[in-house]
Amino acid sequence: MTNNTKEEENQGPTPQGNIPPENENENEVSIDSLARKVQESLSLANRHKFWETQPVGQFKDLADTSLSEGPIEAPTPLSEVKQEPYNLPAQYEWITCDMDSEEMCLEVYNLLTHNYVEDDENMFRFNYSKEFLGWALRPPGYYRSWHIGVRAKSSKKLVAFITGIPARIRVHDSIVNMAEVNFLCVHKKLRSKRLAPVMIKEVTRRVHLENIWQAAYTAGVILPTPITTCQYWHRSLNPKKLIDVGFSRLGARMTMSRTIKLYKLPDQTATRGFRKMEPHDVPAVTRLLRNYLRQFAVAPDFDENDVEHWLLPKEGVVDSYLVESPETHEVTDFCSFYTLPSSILGSQNHSTLKAAYSYYNVSTKTPLVQLINDALIMAKRKDFDVFNALDVMHNESFLKELKFGPGDGKLHYYLYNYRVRHVLRPSELGLVLL
Ligand SMILES: CC(C)(COP(=O)(O)OP(=O)(O)OC[C@H]1O[C@@H](n2cnc3c(N)ncnc32)[C@H](O)[C@@H]1OP(=O)(O)O)[C@@H](O)C(=O)NCCC(=O)NCCS
Repeated sequence: MTNNTKEEENQGPTPQGNIPPENENENEVSIDSLARKVQESLSLANRHKFWETQPVGQFKDLADTSLSEGPIEAPTPLSEVKQEPYNLPAQYEWITCDMDSEEMCLEVYNLLTHNYVEDDENMFRFNYSKEFLGWALRPPGYYRSWHIGVRAKSSKKLVAFITGIPARIRVHDSIVNMAEVNFLCVHKKLRSKRLAPVMIKEVTRRVHLENIWQAAYTAGVILPTPITTCQYWHRSLNPKKLIDVGFSRLGARMTMSRTIKLYKLPDQTATRGFRKMEPHDVPAVTRLLRNYLRQFAVAPDFDENDVEHWLLPKEGVVDSYLVESPETHEVTDFCSFYTLPSSILGSQNHSTLKAAYSYYNVSTKTPLVQLINDALIMAKRKDFDVFNALDVMHNESFLKELKFGPGDGKLHYYLYNYRVRHVLRPSELGLVLL
């Protein structure tokens, strides 16, 4: 997933934890035993009953430099992979979701639209479109068996979902076949019943059946243990609407008209040779992107088929632009963003926030700031309200200059069954998950 964040409020210093009042009647309680109790309750709260059993980097191993980078567990022979699905509570059943079917796609869409990720204050909920889901879940070589649903046996209602898609991901010098796991969702009425661990084990089993033993995933929550922690930044395109719906706030000593002026963009892009990517550009974009992604510690290993799928523009799903030198016709720069609206949960006036998310960008000749400013202009022209970007790759170099503000949530990246030597800085990450 992508975490749902909105613009951070400027709250000044973070409040410190409350200091409990001293209890004068119980002065025989020693500081030591108090400290022990606090420690116990803290470590209880931080325990991960499920994740502690999984082959993932554990918190206790973070400082252990003797552990080497690579798979945590060796693959087992395929014949030893459990052949039957995990048990579900008796009233539920597993289904494999056929995302080619309009009907199935709509069921998944409806589950996610009402139950998927919200921001911390429950003001916005992701609203991935059906077209987006069809694109995100059917890349080259996808497995239908990795699109997993849970239905209530009696009503046949879809109540939970989880997916994997295949991806080659390079970690330092090793290219690893992985599953990218995404869209984990349990219906609001079925939360906190330990269904999520069963969903995760079942997708893992089906991934193993394809002889794949590693996975990459992101979450807004802290689990054992992130390979990196990123932050979202938001660039207002339609500040009035963003302020009206509570996504952002009017800055101190700012009026609405000054704010609108601050975020105003030109109508025309600035870069000579800037144009929409077309099918015949796939080889050039693949070369450009492969060369660029080499510098990051973790990045996808895209071939032409992947680029065709992930980066050729698709109306309402993904937009890509490139710079073709008018003289040499060389493709020198590239930028892209995907479309992920959020439902606005409590507004009288607006139901949808139109958000563009920065995807893969490559600059070799055009300064990145100028390239992304042109992307902002295109997003504004397409009526997006906000342009979001993580602080991954070289994004930090344009965020402040182009008037992005920090978001209020974090996005943690994880690998399953693969240990990395060090925790990465966001700028060492070359991977964007949807
Ligand atoms: C995420 C979600 C499926 C978890 O289900 P739940 O009913 O809250 O939790 P369950 O009781 O079934 O399971 C809890 C376990 O799942 C883990 N878990 C919770 N969210 C998780 C996530 N996003 N990714 C992986 N594991 C997660 C918990 O850490 C816990 O395991 P632990 O004891 O080892 O720490 C559910 O809250 C949901 O659908 N939320 C909205 C959509 C969403 O946030 N999806 C995740 C996107 S990354």
